[in-house]
Amino acid sequence: MPHVTGTPAIPAPASGATTGPATVTTLPGVRVARPRHYLMCRPTHFEVTYAINPWMDPTGEPVDTDLAMRQWEGLRDAYRALGHTVDVIEGVPGLPDMVFAANGALVVDGKVLGASFLAAERQPEGPAYLEWLRATGMFSDFGSTSTVNEGEGDFLDLDTVLLAGTGFRTSRMAHGEAQEFFGKPVISLQLVDPSYYHLDTAIAVLGDHDIAYYPGAFSPGSNAVLRRMFPDAITVDADEAATFAMNSVSDGKHVVVPVESVRFAAALRERGYDPVPVELSEFKKSGGGPKCCTLELRS
Ligand code: ARG
Repeated sequence: MPHVTGTPAIPAPASGATTGPATVTTLPGVRVARPRHYLMCRPTHFEVTYAINPWMDPTGEPVDTDLAMRQWEGLRDAYRALGHTVDVIEGVPGLPDMVFAANGALVVDGKVLGASFLAAERQPEGPAYLEWLRATGMFSDFGSTSTVNEGEGDFLDLDTVLLAGTGFRTSRMAHGEAQEFFGKPVISLQLVDPSYYHLDTAIAVLGDHDIAYYPGAFSPGSNAVLRRMFPDAITVDADEAATFAMNSVSDGKHVVVPVESVRFAAALRERGYDPVPVELSEFKKSGGGPKCCTLELRS
């Protein structure tokens, strides 16, 4: 009996595979964007008045407030142009770092873990974000930790696990508390370089199972964990990490990256991602990039 000719069929699964012919596997390199819901904080009161990480110098070149606002609007508009929803929380006078929304909470599966900051200067931000999140009426399950946890700055959500950083801000105890609250396994990673004080300055989540990272930010044991879990991950060197390349935001296909992260953008393109460069120089003066300015609300 002649075979049907014409458009080639989807290749049959390898022998022994249990999937039927109707199953279409995502090909490596074919990236799929998922619409996201983000919260950002308008930088009306953003400045550098204290130093809690090595990038911050209150006696250095001051923040250009107008430029910061334009750069922040550029990031917001880039997300909206990609089809994402961006909600905006207004900043509170006297809380210059509130613009770094990633630290405001951790929202996964519609559950909200409130942040608890290490620095006294940032402590009031936790309640400010919680108040906003409660007022949306979107969430009913709120939790907290008994020790320091700086929200999505130190917790990164993947499909089946949360990656969690410790060493400078979020405590190891809080990792365990987050695991209990979300019922999702938490992998603790030890940060060792003060310039990469939050996990989201050292790891970029690209897809549900795909990350990029800067090995120099982690202890030998944590590097071994990352190699074991993500043998094919993109890694970046010290110069590229210093562009805040790892502080990028992916929707599964488009990756919003700092404009300086040219080599990282090239590596992303090679893997089928679409880099979207943004300029955020003013926020770097406080040790922040695109991801720091963004909290994802996962329902
Ligand atoms: N100046 C802020 C701090 O040191 C920057 C926070 C950056 N946020 C982040 N998610 N990495 O706390």
